Amino acid sequence: MTKTVLVAGLGLIGGSLAINIKENTDYHLIGFDVNSQTLDYSLKNRIVDEVVTDFKKAVKQADICILAAPVSKTIELIDQLKHIVVDKPLLITDVSSVKKPIIEAASGITSDMITFIGGHPMAGSHKKGIEAAKGHLFENAIYILSPDDSCSSKNLRELENLLKGTRSTILKLDPTEHDEMTSVISHFPHLIASSLVHQAKKWQKKHVNIPTLAAGGFRDITRIASSNPAMWQDIFFQNKSIIQDLLEDWVNEMTDLKKLLETDDKISMYQYLEQAREYRDGLDTKKKGAIPSFYDVYVDIFDQTGALLKVVSLLAQKDISIKNIEILEMREGITGVLRLSLLSQKDQIESNRLLIENGYETMLQE
Ligand SMILES: NC(=O)c1ccc[n+]([C@@H]2O[C@H](COP(=O)([O-])OP(=O)(O)OC[C@H]3O[C@@H](n4cnc5c(N)ncnc54)[C@H](O)[C@@H]3O)[C@@H](O)[C@H]2O)c1
Repeated sequence: MTKTVLVAGLGLIGGSLAINIKENTDYHLIGFDVNSQTLDYSLKNRIVDEVVTDFKKAVKQADICILAAPVSKTIELIDQLKHIVVDKPLLITDVSSVKKPIIEAASGITSDMITFIGGHPMAGSHKKGIEAAKGHLFENAIYILSPDDSCSSKNLRELENLLKGTRSTILKLDPTEHDEMTSVISHFPHLIASSLVHQAKKWQKKHVNIPTLAAGGFRDITRIASSNPAMWQDIFFQNKSIIQDLLEDWVNEMTDLKKLLETDDKISMYQYLEQAREYRDGLDTKKKGAIPSFYDVYVDIFDQTGALLKVVSLLAQKDISIKNIEILEMREGITGVLRLSLLSQKDQIESNRLLIENGYETMLQE
């Protein structure tokens, strides 16, 4: 008999999982969301087979339930699950960016019929909502699962099978380990990116041309500050104690750097920069990590009518789809003025080859 999957929270992540499951399985998909427009959109675009407004009723129908609401709302849904009596086995997973508070909440589910496996697909976008959802969002991404000791291999296999179509790489991590690592490489950098943007905004009062200078590299290094503020506020507070520790570490490190300047310690400053460069250069550029990457090609074009169209047509002839296009006014530090963002590294390399073959000067993003 066809199994039923309930996706609760049909935003960017829940919607993308629903599209992917629909494309790759014959499961019956039910969608639940507190936003009625999202439900209408999901039904109209056949992202799910059925939509519901009663979470408890839908849970009783489901064999598998994916909780994909914001972290604090997912905890509220788990609290509701504690009081629902189901009469068939139910496998529940979530997609929250923070794992410890979720697993703690889920430990209060006492029904023998219910198995909870924490999950976190480490792929996303700065966009939010169902309209930004896409089935291939998780391709080549790391998908973390946090099964506890009581989880049977049968249940784990069932979830892994459901996620097979995402073409992500499953990695099993303990919730605390997960929260610490993702804080270091994703949550905390987000806070710092936002603080850099605030600093630029403050200095703009003195130097009105700051936005012009910020168009190139500064915009790149602060890209994650453009993500969904509501989601990040929720993540920071759900992961408060680790973020607090990291902030304290960071403040101490900045104080040490300030001392190096005050004492004219050029050797230590050089070593600090050199060690950072070595570590960064050793990171794998071919894998998707916690922060979504873009595959950019910078192209030098001349200010002539049709110049942009020529570049776009060249790539279109080879079926290469351009995710974003931007004309940069700054030339400092980069070869070209046209930035093309591609969907994959394969497209990036192919576009670069095509452009070079056609006489363009290019540079790839490192
Ligand atoms: N966006 C990312 O980059 C990313 C990556 C990995 C994991 N996540 C996690 O995915 C989850 C969802 O994030 P998103 O980016 O899809 O957000 P989103 O804002 O795109 O979608 C959230 C959806 O949840 C719905 N919702 C809110 N409260 C609800 C409730 N009580 N019951 C049911 N639905 C509810 C909203 O209406 C919306 O449709 C979060 O827990 C987040 O931590 C996000």
